Amino acid sequence: MNFNKNNGYKKNTIDFFNRVAEKKHGDSYKHYKTVLSWIDYKTEKRILDLGCGKGELLKEVDKMLGSHEGDIQYKIVGLDISMNMIEKAKKNNKNIEFIVGDSQNLPFKDNDFKVIICLNSFHHYENPEKVVKEMYRVLEKGGNIILGEINLFKLLKKLVNKILPYTTNGDVKIYSSDEIKQMFIHEGFIFVKDKFIFPSLKVYLLKKPL
Ligand SMILES: C[S@@+](CC[C@H](N)C(=O)[O-])C[C@H]1O[C@@H](n2cnc3c(N)ncnc32)[C@H](O)[C@@H]1O
Repeated sequence: MNFNKNNGYKKNTIDFFNRVAEKKHGDSYKHYKTVLSWIDYKTEKRILDLGCGKGELLKEVDKMLGSHEGDIQYKIVGLDISMNMIEKAKKNNKNIEFIVGDSQNLPFKDNDFKVIICLNSFHHYENPEKVVKEMYRVLEKGGNIILGEINLFKLLKKLVNKILPYTTNGDVKIYSSDEIKQMFIHEGFIFVKDKFIFPSLKVYLLKKPL
């Protein structure tokens, strides 16, 4: 049986997203408007999207940033563990850098980005604390994390988390709002605000202190 438990979450995640790269997947599109409105395009020009999928959000970010020819401050990067997602992203966005990689081990130098976006990807991470540590490392002081995640009420979350080890899409765990905030605060981030997009979707803004 192809359970997450037997096959491994990482392998299942890669297989699943390589398969769905051809299709529209999930609810992420519903986050975009809020995420785009939480970026200050005058000062935040170094932007990383972890688990960027086909790069659709970064395409919108690029449009919002407008003309950037010769601007050495400008850097937009998308990273995703699925090779097929990254291939699609590269085809769709010629100006943006896309990399196959694992959010748990980022190939960037310290303080490299002003904003890190991570939408609907966090619940696939086997070591989320490591991802938060990596985010802190590559984000500059005063920089922002914009995290979008599934939100379920307590009983449903408990049930779903019991079932996830026996599913095949590489979903590791659904977190409560408090668990998410605590994980980031523990690493040194400041919680700024959050917003429900739907009862089942929430976006968080967290800041690395100056
Ligand atoms: C539901 S999709 C969301 C895509 C995109 N963020 C969006 O909002 O449209 C989750 C993405 O996270 C990626 N992902 C899962 N685990 C990852 C990891 N450990 N490192 C990098 N990307 C990962 C998947 O390959 C997939 O493309």
